Amino acid sequence: MMKLALFLLSVAGTLASPLRQGAAKLSPVIRNGTTLLVDGKAWKMVGPNVYWLGLDENVTPPAGEPFYAPTKASYPTKERITEVMATVQALGGTMIRGHTLGVSTGNPLSVWPEARVVNEQAFDSIDWAVYQAGVYGIRLLVPLVDNYDYYHGGKYNFLRWGGFDLNKNRDENNPLVQQFYTNSTIIDLFKDYIKTIITHRNQYTNLTFAEDPTIFAYETGNELLGPTWGDMNSPADWVQEIAQYVKSIAPQKLVVDGTYGINKTHLNIEEVDIFSDHMYPVNTTKLQEDIGLVEAAGRPFFAGEYDWVGGDTANLQSMFKIIEESPAVAGDTFWSQFGHNAPDCANYVYHSDGLSLQYGNPRNTPNQNSRIQLIRKHFIAMSQGKEIAPDEALPAVPCPAPTSPSRR
Ligand SMILES: *[C@@H]1O[C@H](CO)[C@@H](O)[C@H](O)[C@H]1NC(C)=O
Ligand SMILES: *[C@@H]1O[C@H](CO)[C@@H](O)[C@H](O)[C@H]1NC(C)=O
Ligand SMILES: *[C@@H]1O[C@H](CO)[C@@H](O)[C@H](O)[C@H]1NC(C)=O
Ligand SMILES: *[C@@H]1O[C@H](CO)[C@@H](O)[C@H](O)[C@H]1NC(C)=O
Ligand SMILES: *[C@@H]1O[C@H](CO)[C@@H](O)[C@H](O)[C@H]1NC(C)=O
Repeated sequence: MMKLALFLLSVAGTLASPLRQGAAKLSPVIRNGTTLLVDGKAWKMVGPNVYWLGLDENVTPPAGEPFYAPTKASYPTKERITEVMATVQALGGTMIRGHTLGVSTGNPLSVWPEARVVNEQAFDSIDWAVYQAGVYGIRLLVPLVDNYDYYHGGKYNFLRWGGFDLNKNRDENNPLVQQFYTNSTIIDLFKDYIKTIITHRNQYTNLTFAEDPTIFAYETGNELLGPTWGDMNSPADWVQEIAQYVKSIAPQKLVVDGTYGINKTHLNIEEVDIFSDHMYPVNTTKLQEDIGLVEAAGRPFFAGEYDWVGGDTANLQSMFKIIEESPAVAGDTFWSQFGHNAPDCANYVYHSDGLSLQYGNPRNTPNQNSRIQLIRKHFIAMSQGKEIAPDEALPAVPCPAPTSPSRR
């Protein structure tokens, strides 16, 4: 692994202007049994979900800028992306789970507006996010497809391109949705899409995403299911084939099984490095069951999404305590982070699900602010092994945030 790090450093060292400096200096994350390691030391993956880093749906851009009105899709500004990195650093986070850095299909602003048609413009926000994450020392976990039919695309695009006229509202329970996982034409299409994403060369770092250790893991998808809610039926054969494919083109990446829930029949897929579940609501009984199953299979567990703001605070604290005390838990990412509508630093971006964490928003409720403090305390315990007081003041994050911060 040391050899790899030196190789990557020497690649970064050869970058000529106008490429930006400062990225590609992160060491790779490797897995040893139930533990993730960076430079031989245990590393924890804690941070937010930031689903909109590649493509957003919450801001109407100025006239003339790319905008797809039917789904309100637009590219986030560079200032919004950079502020996320500064905020994660202030929270003590180590990484971000970012859906639209990998899921980008089916509308004119996507990486693949149509099957096998690449829209290079869609990579600008993605490249900037990966570059700025690297500069801030924040690693990225990137899902490759979504179970649903949101503005950013998902498995229904591949189904439709593969000849199955399905959509989520009408066909969520249609057995034909399994064609996404079983039809070789559609699997080949999905693999070609994965290749477009992972072999893309970042215009700011001149590294492909396969080469850039800032992206430490790809996830087979987000909340993957079959035709019945809770069925955990993203078939094991498909999970293995996709994990093998990712590793064949990006041997240094870890792979997360994106099945929604711990499917016991997947635990022996050797190419899967991390198993995960989502917690709506936070449920410590479920959490402990999940950890037990995954740990027994010799892999780390990761809580990929949870409701950070609802329910009892004591329940959230119990979850954090279990995670901090379980060596076989890799970490967790709350749902979900937003920030200022930067470069407009006077206004925040709002999203409708009631779960937005807006760091420093003067309109936050006391409950929101104390939860943000708890999250920071938890992240610092996980990432730095340090105890801070639950009411420790939150550090200020400048807006706009610097694109070349001093490294901590
Ligand atoms: C980017 O990397 C490629 C492949 O290593 C190399 O051929 C090219 O010269 C690099 N471009 C710049 C501007 O450094
Ligand atoms: C991996 O873990 C095993 C025991 O669980 C240990 O003996 C070995 O040294 C570890 N390897 C690294 C690279 O830390
Ligand atoms: C796979 O999808 C194609 C349409 O793209 C269809 O013709 C074929 O019958 C499907 N294969 C199976 C095994 O269902
Ligand atoms: C788990 O995966 C298997 C094999 O892919 C699948 O048959 C099953 O329906 C899934 N769900 C559960 C609950 O086992
Ligand atoms: C929590 O999870 C346990 C075990 O899976 C389940 O029996 C229980 O119903 C869940 N509780 C809630 C409130 O969802």
